[in-house]
Amino acid sequence: MRNILVTNALPYANGHLHLGHMLGYIQSDIWVRFQKSQNHQCHFVCGSDTHGTPIMLKAQKEGIRPEKLVAEMAQSHLNDFMDFEVEFDNYHSTHNTLNQEIVEDIYKKLQANNLIETREIAQAYDPKANMFLPDRFVKGICPKCKAPDQYGDSCEVCSATYSPLDLIAPRSVVTGECPIEKTSEHYFFKLSSLSQDIEKWMKSNKALQPEINNKLKEWFQSGLQDWDISRDAPYFGFPIPGTNEQKYFYVWLDAPMGYLASFKDFCNKAGIDFDSYWKQDSQAELYHFIGKDIVYFHALFWPAILHAVGYRTPTGVFANGFLTINGQKMSKSRGTFISARTYLNHLHADYLRYYFACKLTTKIDDIDLNLTDFIQKVNSDLVGKVVNIASRCAGFIHKRFDGMLSDNVIDQDLVDEFTQVHDKITQCFETRDFAQAMRIIMNLADKANQFVDQHKPWQLIKEKGNEQIVHDVCSLGVNLFKIIMGYLKPVVPALALKAEQFLNISQLAWAEIPALLLNHKINKFKPLLARIEQDKIEAILMETKNMQAQQEKAAIIEADNVENALDIADEIAIDDFMKVDLRIAKIIAADHVEGADKLLRLMLDLGGLQKQVFAGIKSAYNPEDLIGKHTVMVANLAPRKMRFGLSEGMVLAAGDGKGLYLLEPHEGAKPGMRVR
Ligand code: 2FM
Ligand code: ZN
Repeated sequence: MRNILVTNALPYANGHLHLGHMLGYIQSDIWVRFQKSQNHQCHFVCGSDTHGTPIMLKAQKEGIRPEKLVAEMAQSHLNDFMDFEVEFDNYHSTHNTLNQEIVEDIYKKLQANNLIETREIAQAYDPKANMFLPDRFVKGICPKCKAPDQYGDSCEVCSATYSPLDLIAPRSVVTGECPIEKTSEHYFFKLSSLSQDIEKWMKSNKALQPEINNKLKEWFQSGLQDWDISRDAPYFGFPIPGTNEQKYFYVWLDAPMGYLASFKDFCNKAGIDFDSYWKQDSQAELYHFIGKDIVYFHALFWPAILHAVGYRTPTGVFANGFLTINGQKMSKSRGTFISARTYLNHLHADYLRYYFACKLTTKIDDIDLNLTDFIQKVNSDLVGKVVNIASRCAGFIHKRFDGMLSDNVIDQDLVDEFTQVHDKITQCFETRDFAQAMRIIMNLADKANQFVDQHKPWQLIKEKGNEQIVHDVCSLGVNLFKIIMGYLKPVVPALALKAEQFLNISQLAWAEIPALLLNHKINKFKPLLARIEQDKIEAILMETKNMQAQQEKAAIIEADNVENALDIADEIAIDDFMKVDLRIAKIIAADHVEGADKLLRLMLDLGGLQKQVFAGIKSAYNPEDLIGKHTVMVANLAPRKMRFGLSEGMVLAAGDGKGLYLLEPHEGAKPGMRVR
């Protein structure tokens, strides 16, 4: 018997689960169910990932404490997991004293091992919200391709990476303010000094997927960077001991420690020896199932930390690809961002579990949920092949033989074919090649149907004297169905449960798969699984679209609130305003400025008088489109000497970080007219 501990990435507790999440959880759940069916001691733990700026701000926005937000979200996640038949042995939370103790203990050990150092770093800071801004909380115009509304770390249009303050017209997503640069002291985990240890772990680890190995090699080659594990207050997380609540552990430091905490909590409840799983020389196996986007944290930082503080390292880190829908990234605008609950509102989990199983291998490739193929495959395989075997045979057994299966095996060779693949299927599940397992199993289902087709019990029964053969054929059909359902049980647990009830057995145990039910009474057959109808899929897509529309409406209201909450500058007297000489100006020339990323040179005519202005509007305008247009300028601004020449004023433009718009007077306004 093996001792196995399995974790799945802890879902972030700021939003609901979608089908992309479910791909990973279904994969790990199938594997765990399979391991349990082998009678290994297998524990499956998870919990909420609760810390960080997004959760803090979302709670603020909703006017609730972050603890409440994450508790509500945990409940929603748990409901989704339950209905998707993802069965954790324990579900915990990273915001918990047990986790805090573990995090602090590990941190102190890292400190004692000289693996923590502090450095000053400069970051974007929102002076209105009085907080440092994570890169994703700054938006502005991409400095490279000028695409508006890009995040502070990378451009979704041209893929350029940069830091938030490189954005043109950057603004804080929190308040709309222009962020400033501010320095503060940060705590770094000296990952670079553990490079050799992680490399050793990687080389000795036979279970790592080749794609992860290659990624790790790339990272080693480019040199490991030390890791910033601190964030400044305000932050929802654990304060770093000794920093007077001014510094907090970065969410990604305490998140994987949540695996330890969840398991410890489980051990405390179940009386299991925690250390036997986590001590350095533990013989237990430890597997982390994750999405491909978080390999860096799990295959670099995590083993490095575990090794550094004397815990055992993972036996395997299994990454899965992303889910695409109809061949494309899940997308809000395409209406394919399907939430777990929306799916469940219309369809049973087993359909999707089976479909995912058909696609899951050991590879990290993305997996496509093609909705037409989904209907077709599930209807054809599960309903048309598997359940069909039982429904074709059960009626005769009941009507003619009082529900009793025959004690005679009519085709032992066929039974042998079904049982000979037992080892192969076991191996496929063990190696997470579920797709191959499903192919073998469906091949069996085809054979079982062919067997029934060949004998045609519905014809045989019409002639007297054929009772025995009909009994034998249908009994074997039911038994072949039993074998198939035994193999499918980790994938479609609810269907397997119904099959157990129909077969009148306590459970379809893996080791018992080859055993036939002879002279055994079965229960009346009730339809086990309905076909998926197209209208269910349409209903899922419609509900997704409606939810999306509601969310967009809420986002617009929220964005308006941020805009409206903008500070109006301090009050001024009319005399102050009158000091500003605003004039209508006609743009008579406009050119690019060599060496200037943001500027255009404008020649402005004020009705005889001409002025040169360098304006930061290059991101929004082609110079040739401006020539001949009228605008408004500050005509009495003290001239500024710039690298490119003298700037003798300023043109007026409005902007929100997303776009930039020159002011243009109504028709009739003439160059030189005063604006007041
Ligand atoms: O990527 C995510 O959604 C993270 N919440 C996963 C955390 S996994 C672990 F480290 F906790
Ligand atoms: Zn760009």
